Amino acid sequence: MLNPFPEGWYFVAERKAIERAGLLQRTWLGNQVVVWCNDAGDVCVAEAVCPHLGADLSPDAGGRVRNGCLVCPFHGFEYDSTGRCVATPYAPPPKSARLRVFETTEIAGMILAWHGIGDRSPQWQIPALPPRGHDWSELEIRSIRFAGHPQETTENSVDLGHLRYVHGYDSVGRAGPLVIEGSCLKCSFDFKRTRAFAGLEIFKYDVSAVSSIHGLGYSIVDIREHSIGIDSRLWVLATPIDGTDIEVTLVSQVRLLRSPKRSIAGMRFLPLRLRTWILNKILISAQRHDVMQDVVIWRRKTFRPRPLLCRSDGEIMKFRRYCEQFYPGGKLLLADERLEFKESADSSSPEQADQVRARTA
Ligand code: FES
Ligand SMILES: [Fe+2]
Repeated sequence: MLNPFPEGWYFVAERKAIERAGLLQRTWLGNQVVVWCNDAGDVCVAEAVCPHLGADLSPDAGGRVRNGCLVCPFHGFEYDSTGRCVATPYAPPPKSARLRVFETTEIAGMILAWHGIGDRSPQWQIPALPPRGHDWSELEIRSIRFAGHPQETTENSVDLGHLRYVHGYDSVGRAGPLVIEGSCLKCSFDFKRTRAFAGLEIFKYDVSAVSSIHGLGYSIVDIREHSIGIDSRLWVLATPIDGTDIEVTLVSQVRLLRSPKRSIAGMRFLPLRLRTWILNKILISAQRHDVMQDVVIWRRKTFRPRPLLCRSDGEIMKFRRYCEQFYPGGKLLLADERLEFKESADSSSPEQADQVRARTA
């Protein structure tokens, strides 16, 4: 079994959702965490356990935020956004009282937190987005939870074969080499797509996509649709929850569609912002539809450490070597699984080894 919590940056929540809720609770990479922000906008993601006597700090248990500080429901100790205890109701705060906090970063209003091997500090950063001006729509967000792993979901970015077979894309082709630079992997591909209704071909799309992967929790895909002239970008944020389930959050944004190269059914006379807003809704629904097709495969598939690949699958092993940096000692599998896998490969006949491999994979 793949180690369920590879190192990296993982989505926690939208800043808007944190501000709206005041205090959020999440199960995030096997941790119960609380999330809030102070009046200056500093976000804190902390383990929901009070260092005093261990009370649960989540809002369900009575935790709340007052004047930008998290207040424990048990004895009222207060913690600031760095996790430091700054006040108690009846004595000076103990100097060493501090929440376990996770380092955060923010991309386009999305808050991600760092999960490090052995709690080590961030080894790399997600690059800031280039300024895009005001000609981009608001974000559309959809989340899907299922039994899965972020490496398996991310692997689909380099698995061009499935684009045709699962999603029905046409003329899928790589548009450039797969490039790995440290924690970043980039790949680009082109495809065509026909949407049919009542047996008639209604829409034809001609798409170029560049996917930038920064660890297994954060991918951004820049998408250019040539026939209409739509620029959009899609984030795919895969977050392990509890060692079994993950949540894939899809976030879509579209550049204002001022002058489409061809008409889009019924949208020509709509005001520009409304037209773009509708378009973004359509795109996120299409993306969600595609991901739901993948989910059928993901939730039932077995991780094969040594897959049987055909020649055009070559990039999959390159992707897996890239992934090794996110696991303790570069080992993708949990320790006991590795042992069983190694023993079977060392001592069995090829047939037996394959059976054990299938069991442990
Ligand atoms: S357990 Fe939190 S203040 Fe005592
Ligand atoms: Fe897919």
